[in-house]
Amino acid sequence: MTEGASLRIASVNKDFAKANDVEARTIALHDVSLSIAAGELVSLIGPSGCGKSTLLRLTAGLDTPNSGELWIGPEMITGPNAERGLVFQDPNLFPWLTVRRNIESGLVARGKLQEKRHEVDEFMRLVGLETFENAYPHHLSGGMAQRVALARALINHPKVLLLDEPLGALDAFTRMRMQDEVLRLWQARGTTMLLVTHDIDEAIYMSDRIVIMTPRPGRIERTIPITLERPRQRNSPEFLQLRGEILEMLHFAGEARSAEV
Ligand SMILES: Nc1ncnc2c1ncn2[C@@H]1O[C@H](COP(=O)(O)OP(=O)(O)OP(=O)(O)O)[C@@H](O)[C@H]1O
Ligand SMILES: [Mg+2]
Repeated sequence: MTEGASLRIASVNKDFAKANDVEARTIALHDVSLSIAAGELVSLIGPSGCGKSTLLRLTAGLDTPNSGELWIGPEMITGPNAERGLVFQDPNLFPWLTVRRNIESGLVARGKLQEKRHEVDEFMRLVGLETFENAYPHHLSGGMAQRVALARALINHPKVLLLDEPLGALDAFTRMRMQDEVLRLWQARGTTMLLVTHDIDEAIYMSDRIVIMTPRPGRIERTIPITLERPRQRNSPEFLQLRGEILEMLHFAGEARSAEV
């Protein structure tokens, strides 16, 4: 199944007014261009403040660039749309709604619940939450809450799923399980995914390509295709070699000396 669409970011610039000085601007993104094929999974790595979240917000249509364009397939992005799902580090669930109602909430907002109600069960099964449909968010572990957030985004059949450190708050074991979960969903649905992560192992394990950004103003420093066969072995010599090479690149870029960027 291929639900994904291509994403094209063309010469995007974005700056913000500085909080303490209305005259001064923070340049968040400088001439960023990136093309992602339909169904591709691309990770974005870069130091804090280099504009990763800004780029995701622009792609989500939550903000507009100063110049440049963003396209989903043949359509230019002009505002938010359910075809571009966004999942953050904080699952942002409605605490007063059950798991089922949280997953349904996107459909309710779009007036599609009647038509799509039958899919709610399917998506709860897909993320392994069928026995928790009546639980409330405070009963869920971090990993389970993040699965609800994923199901809530996926039920809209997004053509592009934007993931901003979605697994960043999870412990190491849950995180690795969830990486497999996201990969399974990606393979099942063919959704195009753009994943922001600070974890180089996660980026290598999951991505078709890793895009490295420079410190602010964020530019694309380089793109590394990951051609290791899937499912990937985290301890294989090839994996570890790639990890070393990427660390080295980041080291020379003056950004990081450990596996966390
Ligand atoms: N709404 C805003 N108003 C003013 N400045 C902003 C706004 N959003 C982002 N910035 C600034 O733009 C720059 C890029 O921020 P952004 O959140 O995109 O970085 P990031 O790469 O996601 O960082 P992190 O890894 O810490 O999440 C930062 O200097 C930030 O302070
Ligand atoms: Mg961010």
